[in-house]
Amino acid sequence: MVPGSPERRQSIAIGVTGASGAIYATRTIAALLEQGVHIELIVSDYGRRLLRDELGDDATLERLMPFLEARHGRGVHAGSMNLHSNRDLGATIASGSHGCSGMAIVPCSMKTLAAVAHGLSRNLIERAADVMLKERRRLVIVPRETPMSLMQLRNMVSCAEAGAIMLPAMPAFYQQPRTLDDLADFMAGKILSALGFEHQLYPPWTGKV
Ligand SMILES: Cc1cc2nc3c(=O)[nH]c(=O)nc-3n(C[C@H](O)[C@H](O)[C@H](O)COP(=O)(O)O)c2cc1C
Repeated sequence: MVPGSPERRQSIAIGVTGASGAIYATRTIAALLEQGVHIELIVSDYGRRLLRDELGDDATLERLMPFLEARHGRGVHAGSMNLHSNRDLGATIASGSHGCSGMAIVPCSMKTLAAVAHGLSRNLIERAADVMLKERRRLVIVPRETPMSLMQLRNMVSCAEAGAIMLPAMPAFYQQPRTLDDLADFMAGKILSALGFEHQLYPPWTGKV
């Protein structure tokens, strides 16, 4: 093992599902990579589609690192990333013995939220989330839907009761965002904080606007 190798870095799993808000996923991934984190990335079929629908043809999984570098600079190469198939329930992160210290599902569809709330573990995103809950590790869920049905609200409560941090995709405006990137920075900063990372993605609240 060499210093800085994936084996020595802190590992975080990121699940990307087919809810709107792909920019939150790419900003979170880039910010973790900039901190030298090793990412175990899983993207659902609709997560793939939303990456392209919302961020353009360059945002394919196959070209994700060049996309992140073009958007966020060479700092993203400080970290490393493994891409897993969502169908591979035999992947390392499907087991509690894997050393992933936390996971974020960003953005999280109502379908995946329901699956996590009921422990279904039908694909790798659902299984890795289940592992985080059973191992009492940090699971950050970033749901996006509006308005919400009673079942969706109950599923959020179930996940919170099981120990997940519910972090809805609700960017704030007191930091006077000017661009979509400012809004994405705010959400990525909230996610990094919830995972236990320090960051400077948005200015701290000073008591006045
Ligand atoms: C363009 C587009 C936008 C969508 N936005 C949302 C959304 O914001 N929230 C949501 O829960 N589902 C949304 N969906 C529906 C999900 O993609 C769909 O339920 C899918 O089955 C989720 O599967 P997954 O969780 O495995 O990615 C959207 C679908 C499309 C095609």
